[in-house]
Amino acid sequence: MFIRNAWYIAAWADEVGPQPLARTILGDALVLFRDHEGRVGALEDRCCHRGTPLRFGEVVEGGLQCGYHGLVFDGSGACVSIPGQTKIPAKACVRSYPIVEKDEFLWIWMGEASEADTSKILDYPFHNDHAKWPHKHTVYHIAAGYELMVDNLMDLTHLAYVHKSTIGGSNAKIHVNAQMKVTPKDTGLHYLRWMLDCDAPPTYKKAVSFKGHVDRWQEFEFIAPSSVVQWSGALDVGRGAQDRRDQDGGFSLRLFHGLTPETESSCFYFWSTCNGYRQDEPEATEQLFAEIANAFTEDKAIVEAQQASLSVTGEDRLVDIVSDAARIHMRRTLQRMQAGESAVASSA
Ligand code: FES
Ligand SMILES: [Fe+2]
Repeated sequence: MFIRNAWYIAAWADEVGPQPLARTILGDALVLFRDHEGRVGALEDRCCHRGTPLRFGEVVEGGLQCGYHGLVFDGSGACVSIPGQTKIPAKACVRSYPIVEKDEFLWIWMGEASEADTSKILDYPFHNDHAKWPHKHTVYHIAAGYELMVDNLMDLTHLAYVHKSTIGGSNAKIHVNAQMKVTPKDTGLHYLRWMLDCDAPPTYKKAVSFKGHVDRWQEFEFIAPSSVVQWSGALDVGRGAQDRRDQDGGFSLRLFHGLTPETESSCFYFWSTCNGYRQDEPEATEQLFAEIANAFTEDKAIVEAQQASLSVTGEDRLVDIVSDAARIHMRRTLQRMQAGESAVASSA
């Protein structure tokens, strides 16, 4: 069962241009389009005339025109034009979903439209700071439920096993013994991990020159139901990283992870890399993106295999371990949100 009363990323803003974009979100088949004024609309992908998917249509003056008999729908879902007649029946409309363009994302509300509060959309100002945080983004389709991908981001001990050659490095002890502080928040949870006086992983070494060992941090915030913002980096030992992380001459990146359910067992992984070093070298931004793309392809492979296994065997007989603490907190937050929606639905 999905959590519907929440903001999810429907697409990157630059994915929606002159052509309609079909995308299934929380099991609903949608079509996204951008009208001639540049406004984005999100409609059910089903014309109210004969049920043809609107994704076969095109953007015209006034909105999205169905590709079968030419009805035009605006971003609110209202039919605004029917070829050959002036009277438009009141029932001529399709469902629309609140959608907001912000910080290079398109955020969509899949629940009760009257409860869509745009002030609850998280801020990601780094996407608007191209000088300090040059960045790139993409989306991966993942053949696994979104919860498994969020799990992956809540337990970073996997870095030493899944990402040996990129962001992890091969010394598992560094990750298992990291200092980890988890702080619950109203909106989810926050954690900060420190790995002190350790070897830097391959991705970091490619990006900057360290003198020797580094002090390394990973700061994550989970914002329910499915956004994770990350700031990771490293400074040479002796530079006082724990007192002040925001110093020049080290490695620093910000990653955005947005998981949007497609079905119960598939999701979209919207992610971006912002690099906080050598910002005036475009190749540094490209290299970081390529490194992270490799690492996330490694996550995709293991989580999709996990989903395939769990689809057969179910989740019985799984054992929690110490490193699951943040993951378990995250899952409880999702269960609470789900229970809240179920209670409202059954009382209604
Ligand atoms: S099915 Fe859309 S206009 Fe006829
Ligand atoms: Fe990973």
